[in-house]
Amino acid sequence: MQSARLELVLLNKDHLPGYFSVRSDGEVEIWNSPQPITSIEEAEREMVKDLAQANRETWAILLRDDLDPKIIDEWQCPEAKDESNVLVPGGFIGYIGVYDLNHVAQVFYTIHRSAWGLGIATEALLAFTELFWILHPDHYRLIGRCDTENPASGRVLEKSGFEYYDFICADEFQPWMIPHARDSLRFVLAKPGYTFD
Ligand SMILES: CC(C)(COP(=O)(O)OP(=O)(O)OC[C@H]1O[C@@H](n2cnc3c(N)ncnc32)[C@H](O)[C@@H]1OP(=O)(O)O)[C@@H](O)C(=O)NCCC(=O)NCCS
Repeated sequence: MQSARLELVLLNKDHLPGYFSVRSDGEVEIWNSPQPITSIEEAEREMVKDLAQANRETWAILLRDDLDPKIIDEWQCPEAKDESNVLVPGGFIGYIGVYDLNHVAQVFYTIHRSAWGLGIATEALLAFTELFWILHPDHYRLIGRCDTENPASGRVLEKSGFEYYDFICADEFQPWMIPHARDSLRFVLAKPGYTFD
C-alpha cells in the first residue's frame, strides 16, 4: 500500500534495525513499555512476540524508495539533525497496526522521533484505514485509544477522521508512569458508507 510519501508493508525481520531504532528511544517507548529496548537481540525477541500474537497485525511504515532525497531534506527545519539517518528513501520510520481483530479492532502507531511533526502518522493512519477495510471486510468500525497526556496521538486520530467517543478513567495500569493508573480517550471511525446506528 502506498500513499504520497509512504509505503506500508507487513512487518518482518528485514525491518529489525529500524524497529530497534524506534523502540530504543525512551521518549517513544514510554507509551508502550517500562523501558526502551537496549539491544538488537531484545528487539528481535519483541518483534517475534508481536508477530506471533493472534488477532494482531503490524505493518512497517517506510518512506517510499522513489522519493527524491532533496525533497525529504526540505521537510525538516534547518536546525533538525536526523542523526539516526532514517529520513532517506526506503527508510523505516515507524509501525502501525491493529489488535483485537476478534472484536472491534483497535489501532496503534509509533513514529521514529526524527520524523515527528511531519504529518507522517496521519498519512500512515489514513493509508492504513483504507487498507484495513479492504483486508478485513467483516469489520465496520475501528477504535483508536490514546492516553489523556498524549495529545499528539489524539490529534492524529482526529486528523484521520476518527471521532471522539468516550473518556475512560484509569483504563490502563502502567507502573512506570505517574500516575500509574492512566486515563484514556477513545475515538471511533466507521467504515465508509456505514454509521454507528
Ligand atoms: C503520537 C505520534 C504517533 C505522532 O506522530 P507524528 O508523525 O508526529 O504525527 P503528525 O505529524 O501526523 O500529527 C501530530 C499532530 O499532533 C500535534 N501535536 C504534537 N504535539 C502536541 C501536543 N503536545 N499537544 C497538542 N497537539 C500536539 C501536531 O501539531 C499535529 O497536529 P497538527 O497537524 O494539527 O498541527 C508520535 O509522536 C509518536 O510516535 N509518539 C510516541 C508513540 C505514541 O505516542 N504512539 C501512540 C500511542 S496511542
